[in-house]
This record gives sequence, C-alpha cells and structure tokens, in this order.
Amino acid sequence: MTDTSAKTAFVKSYGCQMNVYDSTRMQELLTAQGYALADGPEQADLVVLNTCHIREKASDKVYSELGKVREMKEAQAAAGKDMLIAVAGCVAQAEGQEIIRRQNAVDLVFGPQTYHRLPEMLKARAETGRAVIETEFARDDKFDGLGGANSRKALKQGVAAFLTVQEGCDKFCSFCVVPYTRGAEFSRPVSQVLDEARVLAESGVREVTLLGQNVNAYRGMGAGGETTSLAKLVAELSRISGIQRIRYTTSHPNDMTEDLIAAHAENEKLMPYLHLPIQAGSDKVLKAMNRGHTADHYVRLIERVRAARPDLAISGDFIVGFPGESDADFEATLAVVREVKYASAYSFKYSERPGTPAADRKNQVPEEVKLERLYRLQALLTEQLNDFNRSCVGKTLTVLVEKPGRNAGQVIGRSPYLQSVHFDYPAGREGQIVACRIEETRTNSLSATALEGVA
Ligand code: 5AD
Ligand code: SF4
Repeated sequence: MTDTSAKTAFVKSYGCQMNVYDSTRMQELLTAQGYALADGPEQADLVVLNTCHIREKASDKVYSELGKVREMKEAQAAAGKDMLIAVAGCVAQAEGQEIIRRQNAVDLVFGPQTYHRLPEMLKARAETGRAVIETEFARDDKFDGLGGANSRKALKQGVAAFLTVQEGCDKFCSFCVVPYTRGAEFSRPVSQVLDEARVLAESGVREVTLLGQNVNAYRGMGAGGETTSLAKLVAELSRISGIQRIRYTTSHPNDMTEDLIAAHAENEKLMPYLHLPIQAGSDKVLKAMNRGHTADHYVRLIERVRAARPDLAISGDFIVGFPGESDADFEATLAVVREVKYASAYSFKYSERPGTPAADRKNQVPEEVKLERLYRLQALLTEQLNDFNRSCVGKTLTVLVEKPGRNAGQVIGRSPYLQSVHFDYPAGREGQIVACRIEETRTNSLSATALEGVA
C-alpha cells in the first residue's frame, strides 16, 4: 500500500442524520487507511462534501461550496500540493457526471450506496489521473464493505451515536427525491445492528438513535432467518446493558405498528419522543402528496401512542405550499398542529425537485404565498415549542451527560426530549444519566439542578 500516513482528510456533512452517520463511517474508513482528520478543508489532501438533495437550497449549496474548495485546491497546487475533491451523498447520486461538467476541479463523485469503495476509488484516481464516478446501487455489500462492527473503533465516539438500520424508501411521496437518491427500502440484518451497537456501547456510547428514511418499516433478517420488526429490534438492543437510551427516526404513519406502539409502553430504554411527520393537514393535499393516509388517521395514531406512553412528546415535519394547496388546505395544517401540540418540528416551503411527480404539476403555489404560510406555521410551532419547554419546569427529567458546560463546574446533557440541559455537576462524568429538576427555560436550553441519589 502507498504511504498515506502524512495525508489528511476533511469530510463535511450536509442534510440529514443519515448523512452524518455516513460521514462518520467515511472518516473511520479514511482513518483506517492512514489519513488523519483535518479541522478544515484549506490544507487537507482530500476534501469530501457529503451532500443533500432534499430541497433546492440544499442542492445549490454544493456548487457554491465547490467554488470555494476549488480555490483552496488551486492555492495548494501553487504550493506544489495535490488536493483531491470528492462529492458524495445524494446530489452525487442524482447528478453524477453533471457535477464534473459544472465543476471540473472535482476528482471523485459517489453516491450513498458506494462510499465503502472510497479506498479503491482513491487508488483508481491516483493510477489513472482521471475523475472517478460511482453511483450504482450496490447496497447489499456496503456495510460489509465498511469492515464490520469493529471498524467503528477507529474514531473516538461520544456518548450518543447514530446507527443506520434501514435505508431507502418505497413510498414515493410525490415531492420527495429520497426513493431516487437512496434507492429501494433495505434493512440491515439484526446481528449486524446488534454487533455495531455492542461495539458502540463498549466505546462509551449510552444512547443510540436508529436511523432509516422509513425506520419503522424495518424488516431485518433475524438470527433464524425470520423477518424482524423494529419493535423486536429495539427489544433486542435494549438487552445490551451499556445502551441506556434508544431512539428511532424517521417514521411513516402507515408503519406505526401495534408492537411498536406497545414498545413505547413497555420499554423503559425507548425514549418518550416520536418524530412522526404528517407534512400537511388537508386530506386533499395528503392525497396529492401520495402519503397514503388521512389527517384523521394521523391524529388518532398520535392519540394511541400517547395512550401507551402518556409523557410522549411529538415532533414533525411540514411542507407548506405544495402544488394546489389552498388557504383552506393550509388552515387544515394549522388545525392539526393545534390539535397535536408539537414539542418540536421542522417546516419547509415546498421545493420543486427534478424527477419527482409533483415538480411537473401546473398548480404551483407562488413563492410569496409559501413564505407567508411558512411564517404563520413557524410562529405557531415556536409557540408550541416554548409551551412544551415551559411545561418541563418543575419536573424531574433524566439527563445524559454529554460534555462540560460553558462555566466551570457545569455540564451539558440531553433530556429524553432532546432538549439541551445544563446543570452543576462534577467534571469527567460523561455518559452518566442524572435525574435533574428542571428550573428554568433559556433560549435554546433548560437549566436544572441535579437530584442527589435519584438517578
Ligand atoms: N420540498 C420541501 N420539503 C421537502 N421535504 C422533503 N422533500 C421536500 C420538498 N421537495 C421535507 C419533508 C421531509 C423532510 C426530511 O424534508 O418534510 O419529511
Ligand atoms: Fe438529504 Fe434525503 Fe439524502 Fe438525507 S437522504 S441527505 S435528507 S436527500
């Protein structure tokens, strides 16, 4: 093998949590190849942009970022160094060759299903001097190709980690690029997930977030060849003693099965927090989005999960200004929000994505209407988020200690509801779960007091 010991790599992640997971795996892979991780792109020998295609804004960012990295490459070339630029992720998958046509400083283009081949691609680039493009869907061997669970030891882990269990989507919501960029639904085998979770637990991880574009459609192969549901997987994961907290995201309402709802009632390690997007509140719009459920179905479903786990908090995703959305349709979205009461949420203006069915529709909503609706929706969601945070004051919540706080003697951790909580506590206790009384809400966090001897 060539000596890469002096080489450095910088991986920048855009978009969703799965991209964060993929970027971490790429960093681990590169570390195993002898690369050191650089703090920034300027001096790096390899810069990887792990891109997102979900909305136009996210996609466009790639090209402006590539312009900047190109200048760095030119500065390095002037100093006799050779920087490689790689575009990974969903834009790479969607645009392939087009990326190099628009920015010829790019050396490697590869999609979310081929990044395990990065070492070979680097080798091919070095040998041929030509750009390498790999965007096929050879998913079955990706996780094996990443080197098994032990490859997760290459980097120091924090106390909370992501773990991809499911990838891709067969639902084809009419606005969404994911079925095209991530491919068909695929579940990792149970043993592979458990092995990875054990390695993470051994390296100090206490909280895992199971990731999938449709995570509750998980149907992994069990030890005896049987198909295993997400609820069963969660049950098996909760037997790993180091893993204290389990989350999963993102779910589709139609895959919220009885056993998963029951898991929220039965499994103490499963956090009482559910990210369950509805996208819009009007049945007409939901139909046009090809969501496959009504608003009423969604609201009743939330009621059922809340009945199973009364302290459950809900988070969601919303799109405003989907083609054909009228004022009355938008009001229906606000009505759902008022009924459900979200602890947190993400909301977006509809963005036309090339190749998706909704992009071709004639009844697009004007930009200023989308913007006005977004403001109104976000004002309501912010109010609900503040209400939720205030409702926590005076309660006892468990907090997973993550890192030292800003002031000496303070630590920062996460509540079951993903709120950032700071409180006075001895240093060096990262990974402990501490019962805290919530005292006050701040702009983006909660302050608390640790309760002695309760956790
Ligand atoms: N326009 C706007 N928002 C979108 N999302 C997905 N596709 C689009 C689009 N074309 C949002 C959805 C999804 C989240 C990840 O991004 O709300 O749940
Ligand atoms: Fe973006 Fe979707 Fe790809 Fe995640 S899966 S990076 S959200 S396009």
